[in-house]
Amino acid sequence: MEDLNEIARALVAPGKGILAADESSGTIKKRFESIGLASTETNRRDYREMLFRTKGAAQYVSGVILYDETIKQKAADGTPLVKVLQDQGVMPGIKVDMGAKLLAGAAGELVTEGLDGLRERFAEYKKLGAVFSKWRAVITIGQGIPSFYCLEVNAHALGRYAALSQEAGIVPIVEPEVLMDGTHSIERCYEVTRLTLREVFRQLAIQRVSLEGMLLKPNMVLSGKEATDRAPADEVAFWTVRCFKETVPAAVPGVVFLSGGQSDEEATVNLDAINRYAATVGAPWQLSFSYGRGLQAAPQKAWSGKQENVAAAQRAYLHRAKVTSAARMGKYSRAMEKEAVAV
Ligand code: 13P
Repeated sequence: MEDLNEIARALVAPGKGILAADESSGTIKKRFESIGLASTETNRRDYREMLFRTKGAAQYVSGVILYDETIKQKAADGTPLVKVLQDQGVMPGIKVDMGAKLLAGAAGELVTEGLDGLRERFAEYKKLGAVFSKWRAVITIGQGIPSFYCLEVNAHALGRYAALSQEAGIVPIVEPEVLMDGTHSIERCYEVTRLTLREVFRQLAIQRVSLEGMLLKPNMVLSGKEATDRAPADEVAFWTVRCFKETVPAAVPGVVFLSGGQSDEEATVNLDAINRYAATVGAPWQLSFSYGRGLQAAPQKAWSGKQENVAAAQRAYLHRAKVTSAARMGKYSRAMEKEAVAV
């Protein structure tokens, strides 16, 4: 378990966080459509290779979460993409869940699948170089939901996943995402996130998961995306830190937030506020990032699938990584949004 703890701590080393580049085929297709690009295997490879080869990104990014296709893919020059990362000291990780599906008997709620054959898949991913993994559960806030049934089955699956990951010597990133979709208040998000995390840590304890050898990937506590009066960053920081203090054991080395559909700037401002507030009240865990859209929206737009835009896209990615890293230390300022970076 010592190795797991070392890897977990290295993933959340000061100034560092994680790039989530593990979009499933369906999700990356949607992202590419928004920049007018077909989702072919080569396009997906070229795009991810461009991110992974960005010079200087390793200063801010400790690890990258890959998708099944990507962990087996080779760069244009034949180098495995895993090696491209390893050569820069960036740790490869792997998404192992098979997505959220309709939960039987629970209208509007989801449960994540992917446990069958998972031990064997872990053995394969370990050989391919994965040192950490991720499983995402999805919790929806709505009229009368989430049900406790939904929280329990999702937390149980997270526990089964995390135990198998640790058995394989791979650090699990346990991701229970309470979605920001809806008109709910920040207080309601706080209540639902608190209930969710309580159930998750109960299941992790029952299933003998080492808390020192894992990371938690939660949502920030936010107002619903469609709420009329959305809480500002200082309230997000207050409710988020309060929620974790009530639910996340101190043995967990780090919390790596998802961006979850916030704009990249909003995700950065909120992460900064959370770290500043945590420094004043004290918090036992590193509070870092594992952003997908929060790091990729800008480079995707800059790239638009064109070779001549590669340098601009790499600059956009490096810039987001730099400012998100600053926010993760509580040292971000809006003025940084205008600073140029060189790749
Ligand atoms: P977002 O930061 O875009 O929410 O993605 C993070 C992630 O890995 C979701 O599973």
